Amino acid sequence: MCGIVGYIGELDAKEILLKGLEKLEYRGYDSAGIALCNEEGISIVKEKGRIADLRAAVDVTVCASTGIGHTRWATHGVPNRTNAHPHQSASGRFTLVHNGVIENYHLVQKEYLPAVSMNSDTDTEVIVQLVEKFVIDGMTTEAAFRHTLSLLHGSYAIAMLDANEADTIFVAKNKSPLLLGMGEHFNVVVSDAMAMRQVTDQFVELHDQEVVVIRKESMEIMTLDGVKIERAPFTSVIDMNDIEKGTYPHYMLKEMYEQPGVVRKISQAYEDQKGELTLDVAICKALNEADRLYIIAAGTSYHAGLIGKQYIEKIAGIPVEVHISSEFGYNMPLLSEKPLFLFITQSGETADSRQVLVKVKALGHPTITLTNVAGSTLSREADYTLLLHAGPEIAVASTKAYTAQVAVLAIVAYVAAKEQGKTVDFDLKNELAIAANAIQTIMDSKEEMEQIAHEFLEVTRNAFFIGRNLDFYVSLEGALKVKEISYIQAEGFAGGELKHGTIALIEEGTPVFALATQQAVSLNIRGNVKEVVARGANPCIISMEGLAEVGDRFVLPKVHALLTPLVAVIPLQLISYYAALHRDCDVDKPRNLAKSVTVE
Ligand code: F6R
Repeated sequence: MCGIVGYIGELDAKEILLKGLEKLEYRGYDSAGIALCNEEGISIVKEKGRIADLRAAVDVTVCASTGIGHTRWATHGVPNRTNAHPHQSASGRFTLVHNGVIENYHLVQKEYLPAVSMNSDTDTEVIVQLVEKFVIDGMTTEAAFRHTLSLLHGSYAIAMLDANEADTIFVAKNKSPLLLGMGEHFNVVVSDAMAMRQVTDQFVELHDQEVVVIRKESMEIMTLDGVKIERAPFTSVIDMNDIEKGTYPHYMLKEMYEQPGVVRKISQAYEDQKGELTLDVAICKALNEADRLYIIAAGTSYHAGLIGKQYIEKIAGIPVEVHISSEFGYNMPLLSEKPLFLFITQSGETADSRQVLVKVKALGHPTITLTNVAGSTLSREADYTLLLHAGPEIAVASTKAYTAQVAVLAIVAYVAAKEQGKTVDFDLKNELAIAANAIQTIMDSKEEMEQIAHEFLEVTRNAFFIGRNLDFYVSLEGALKVKEISYIQAEGFAGGELKHGTIALIEEGTPVFALATQQAVSLNIRGNVKEVVARGANPCIISMEGLAEVGDRFVLPKVHALLTPLVAVIPLQLISYYAALHRDCDVDKPRNLAKSVTVE
C-alpha cells in the first residue's frame, strides 16, 4: 500500500531508487515518481502507471546523489500524474513522498493553510505545504517538520527533501512501515528491507512517531519533541534468490511451486531436538491459560483462520472465534474472561489487524502474531510471534502464505493438545510430509488445471465454489483467488446454503466448482451438485482418493482428513492462475489491489 525509497550517498541515486521501486511495486502500482536533488535544485518525474513507465520517462542525464521515490496505491485522489508522489510545496523548496493516510488533513488545511491553493487532491500535499508554512514563519526545516507531524492524525511513512539542504533527507514514521538502511558512505530509507537488499543488509528499525535526519555519513533518530534516540542496526537475512522470479513467468507460479518445500520447512522449523513438533514455552503457556482464542485476520489470512478454528477446537479442545479484523475493532463482541488473541497476517503490516492489536493490548490481553515477516509491525507489537517460514511472497494473490498458515495452525493445535495431555491419534509430522508430497503431485498436474480453467472459466462472467465443512472454507479461498486475479465474479458458499437464495443465480452453463474431500458430508455435497446441475450448472467436482466417483473432474491424492485444505486449495490456485492468464490479466499485480494493506 504505497512504497517509498530514499538514497543519500555518492552514487547516482536514480538507478538505486528505480531498482528499489521495482521491488516495492507489489505495494501499489497505479502511479509512481522520483525526486532527485543536486546543487541545481530538485527535479521531479511522475507518471501514471507502472515503474516501467516511470523509468521510461526519467531523464538519464540528470545526476544526483540524493533522492526519494514512491509507488502509489491511491487512497485520496484518483490515480493520475497530478496525484502521484512526490508532492511539492508552493515555492518548490520542499518535496515529499508519503505512505499512509492523514485523517485530519482537511482540518489542518483549513486552520493553517487557508490561503494556499493545493495542486492535487491528496492528503499528502498538506504535509509539505505545512512544512513550508512553518519555515516561512521562522522555524528551521527540522523543527518545522517535527511541528507539522505533531499536528497530524493518521498513518505516515515520509521522506522529504529540502532544496536548500541537498545533503539531507528528513524521514518520519507513524503506523506505516519504514526502515533505515546503512552502508559505506551512504544511507537509505525504504518501506521493505528487500527493496534495498541490493545495496545493504544492515537496517535500523524505526518506531512510531520517530523522526530521522539522514545524511550520507549519519542518521539522527529522535522523537517528535527532538529527544535523540540510539538504536543498533540488525542484519537482514533475506536471500536475494527468494525475491527474484528466476525462470518462472510469474511470482504467483513460483510461489505455488514453493508450497511443498514450505510445508516441509515448517515441519522442521517447529521441531525440537528430539524431532517432536513443538512451540515456544511461553506460547504453550499462553494457550494453556486461555479460556478462548480469538483469531483476527483479513482476506486469505481470515480464510486460513477459519480452518485454524477447526483444528484448535477439534484437536486441542480450546474454543475459538474467528473475526474479520476491520469489523472486530469497531464492533467488539463480548470477550471471555481469559481471552488470547492470535493475529494471522502474512505481511504483519495490515492496518485493519493492527488497529485490533492496539485495542486489545490496551485492554491488557495477551497477543500472538502468526506472520511471514519477522520484525514486521504486528510481530514487534504482539507478545509472541509464530513465523510462517514461507520466504517472501511477492505476488499480490497469496498462495504459499495461506498453505503455510494452515500448516502452522495445525501445529499449534497439535502441540496445544499434547501439552494438555490429550491423546492425538495421528503423527502430524508424518501427515504434513504426506501433504507436501501431495501438493507436489498436484502441481505436476498443472496442465490439467489449465484445461479446466479453459473449459470452465474462459467465457463466463461468474462462478461458484461450494464445499461443506473444511471444504467450505477452501471454497471461500478459491473464489477469492479467482475474483482477485481474473476479475470473474466468483463466490464461495457452504454447499447447503446455496438453495437458500443464491441458487437463483444459476443459469445454463454457470460453472460450479464443488470440493468433495470430507467423508462425513460427501453425499450431501454431491446432492448439492445435483441441485445445481438440475438448473443448468456446469459442475467441476474435485474429490479425493477414497471418495472419488465416476465423472469427478480431478481427484486429489489422499491426505489426512484434517489436512485436506492444504491440498484442496492447490487446484483452485492453479485454476485461477490460468483463468487470469487466459483473460490477459496481470497475474502478479491485479488491478486495484496492493500486497500490503497499510490503511484501514
Ligand atoms: C488475497 C490476499 C489478501 C490478504 C489480506 C491480508 O490473496 O493476499 O486477502 O490475505 O490483505 O493480508 P495479511 O495476511 O498480510 O494481513
